[in-house]
Amino acid sequence: MELMNAIHERKSYRKPYKPDPIPAESIKEILEAGVAAPSGCNQQTTRFIGVNDPELAHKLAEIYDKPWALTAPAAILLLTKEHVSYRGNSYHIHDYSAAAENILLAAVDKGYATTWIEGQIEGEKARQMGDLLGVPQDLTVAIYMPLGIPAEENPGVAKMPFEDRAWLNGYGKSF
Ligand SMILES: Cc1cc2nc3c(=O)[nH]c(=O)nc-3n(C[C@H](O)[C@H](O)[C@H](O)COP(=O)(O)O)c2cc1C
Repeated sequence: MELMNAIHERKSYRKPYKPDPIPAESIKEILEAGVAAPSGCNQQTTRFIGVNDPELAHKLAEIYDKPWALTAPAAILLLTKEHVSYRGNSYHIHDYSAAAENILLAAVDKGYATTWIEGQIEGEKARQMGDLLGVPQDLTVAIYMPLGIPAEENPGVAKMPFEDRAWLNGYGKSF
């Protein structure tokens, strides 16, 4: 798929998945896209876990606790920890965000659907997911992404008009 097509086709998917298994090789390629992402001071703070064992994916979805996620045959998790690298700043959130977008686009490229789930797992659910997967205590599960082949159409959400958000050669100056 052309990159620009993947960018425009990517939409958060919160509907049932087909039960088709997801090959480890596909997950590896998706995670390689995550590993390739930029990171502040090249500190590469993000870690990644792919899950293609349907039972394990189901257990993660039980922790997340949404019916649509229970149908996902696979999942991806992004792990992080604070790491001060430049002028007292930690760029770990920027790092895993850049990696997450690469992963979302790579998933679309392979015909899969997913959603960046962060706010809804922060805290106890993230800890439970980490414990299930043997994540060391000093790392936090930042993002959970159920993954699979979408079983339904996904029209997506409305976005603000381009003209209201992006300009050329100065704020408010239209293209
Ligand atoms: C930082 C961040 C946190 C998010 N957390 C959640 C979440 O916890 N649950 C969820 O369903 N979607 C979550 N999303 C997905 C957004 O809701 C979604 O991207 C937004 O509604 C726009 O829709 P789109 O992804 O289809 O463009 C999150 C997205 C971002 C960038």
